[in-house]
Amino acid sequence: IRRVTTHSLQKMKAAGERISMLTAYDYSFATLLDQAGVDVLLVGDSASNVMAGHETTLPITLDQMIYHASSVIRGAQRSMVIVDLPFGSYQSNSDIALASAIRIMKETGAHGLKVEGGEEIIDSVKKIVAAGIPVMGHLGLTPQSIYQFGTYNVRAKEEAEAAKLKKDALLLQEAGCFGVVLEKIPAALAKEVTESLRMPTIGIGAGGYCDGQVLVMHDMLGINASFKPRFLRQYLNMATQVTEAVQQYVKDVKSGDFPNEKESY
Ligand code: KIV
Ligand code: NA
Repeated sequence: IRRVTTHSLQKMKAAGERISMLTAYDYSFATLLDQAGVDVLLVGDSASNVMAGHETTLPITLDQMIYHASSVIRGAQRSMVIVDLPFGSYQSNSDIALASAIRIMKETGAHGLKVEGGEEIIDSVKKIVAAGIPVMGHLGLTPQSIYQFGTYNVRAKEEAEAAKLKKDALLLQEAGCFGVVLEKIPAALAKEVTESLRMPTIGIGAGGYCDGQVLVMHDMLGINASFKPRFLRQYLNMATQVTEAVQQYVKDVKSGDFPNEKESY
């Protein structure tokens, strides 16, 4: 099978074919998502939330991201695998950013990286791109800045923030990014940005005009069924299904129904 590349994504944008992206953090789910035809697997730092149970994405470390990414890579035959640079691994200066980027690429076999922010981190983006590493941007509600934002509300509703976002998107493209995630911004703004760029935009809570869509796997599968923001479509209620299956198992063990003769040696 042919691997999805930055070039395939570029071609998809040009042809008007939407790009599908989901997060993945482990080998088993990566295998399922890859075989189901997801174009891009994102080893998101949302692993900090859904894998480790932290309130924010800030605590996850570079070593932990490398562990998740190397597991996902082993399950992905066709999907392109992109890895988030975690908080603290790239903001201080561009040399540290490049060193973090190189560690992920070398130690995981991933196909590209994602970083949050625009102008503030543009030197780091340029340096990583110059090393031959594909970089994706991330603008709008960037969760590594949650304590500055104070809430998970929609971003860039005001003209000043919208203008900065449009400028940042162009800067990221000029710096050599192969795409950008737009998170929780008005659909009209995402449309304008998408039309202004040659590189594809991938939206989450950014409306239907982006070149692709991304969701956190756990959210769309309903693993935490109580998390239901407006932008989310829940394709499964996995929480209920898992609970029912596990309750049945407990019952069968307690009653002595499991294991039966056929399940014994
Ligand atoms: O970490 C993550 O899951 C992400 C996506 C929501 C874009 O960055
Ligand atoms: Na992320």
